Amino acid sequence: MIEKIEEKFKNDLASVSSLEELEVLRIKYLGRKGEATRFFIGLKNLTPAERSRVGQAANKLRQKIETQLSQRKQEFKDRAAVSSQRLDVTAPGVRLRQGHLHPRTQALRQAIGIFRSLGFSALEGPEIEVDWYNFEALNFPKDHPARDMQDTFYVKSSVGKEDLVARTHTSPMQVRYMEKNNPPLRIIVPGRVYRREATDASHDYQFYQVEGLMVDKEISVANFKAVMEEFFKQLYKKKIEIRLRPSFFPFTEPSFEVDISCVFCNQEGCRVCGQGGWLEVAGAGMVNQSVFKNAGYARNEWQGFAFGIGFERIVMMKYHINDIRLMSGGDMRFLKQF
Ligand code: PHE
Repeated sequence: MIEKIEEKFKNDLASVSSLEELEVLRIKYLGRKGEATRFFIGLKNLTPAERSRVGQAANKLRQKIETQLSQRKQEFKDRAAVSSQRLDVTAPGVRLRQGHLHPRTQALRQAIGIFRSLGFSALEGPEIEVDWYNFEALNFPKDHPARDMQDTFYVKSSVGKEDLVARTHTSPMQVRYMEKNNPPLRIIVPGRVYRREATDASHDYQFYQVEGLMVDKEISVANFKAVMEEFFKQLYKKKIEIRLRPSFFPFTEPSFEVDISCVFCNQEGCRVCGQGGWLEVAGAGMVNQSVFKNAGYARNEWQGFAFGIGFERIVMMKYHINDIRLMSGGDMRFLKQF
């Protein structure tokens, strides 16, 4: 009887192919009414001698079954572990998703490269600026109406008593740089600036400027125009006309707005340039002598030009983008196109 059950168990065990089937088998033999358990039910009807013989044999059987079941269980586990580690060298690879540079960064790197070829070095300045560099040193006295054009976000300073502002332009770097460096000098300062602005397709409360400053003994507007012409020619890879219109900035004298000939229609008139054939891209002028003075230079000893390019404008024209807010919006549907 016992031998028969053992025989049957061996056959059953040989055909088991998973952990689940193994569990079914365990219940079939070792469960409460299992094949190797049933013996114990009838034991009380036997004589003491028989009882101990059958009982011992049955216990032995149960132990054998238990050992074999647990051996088999370990085999299944080992096999699963091995197959999960197996490397299939022929399987197709998993494509890594790769990011790329923001269109503004791409254009900025190109712009820096062009200016560098013209002898300008690029540097950065702080985005949270003290009132002195953002306004006062650039000839905007407190309460001067010129400040209204550049209202901004004000930051309470926890150290010192100087007023802090989110810089409204990159021009504060003019004085910061000249304080520490003497002419002749040629720099550009790309960076983010802030304004209090009701946003629309062409205005945002944060945007980029590229400041430029060139100072030497004899610098004229003609030098400025030549630098602009060369820069835009290289950026748009075609001849671009430059037009200067009289304007006002407290820190330049004379001051002008810089227009370039429309890159879309070559001045025939289109929607982008409002049929006028020109696009405004920068504010500029000859550095006011009081700015030199505020930076620690002697008055009337140096001449220079400065400009501030509205950089998004330029990027938008380069890539045909129609809303400036896309530039800082972080929308992947937009960014993936570049
Ligand atoms: N900083 C001025 C602006 O943001 C632009 C500018 C720069 C004008 C340098 C003149 C010289 O409007």
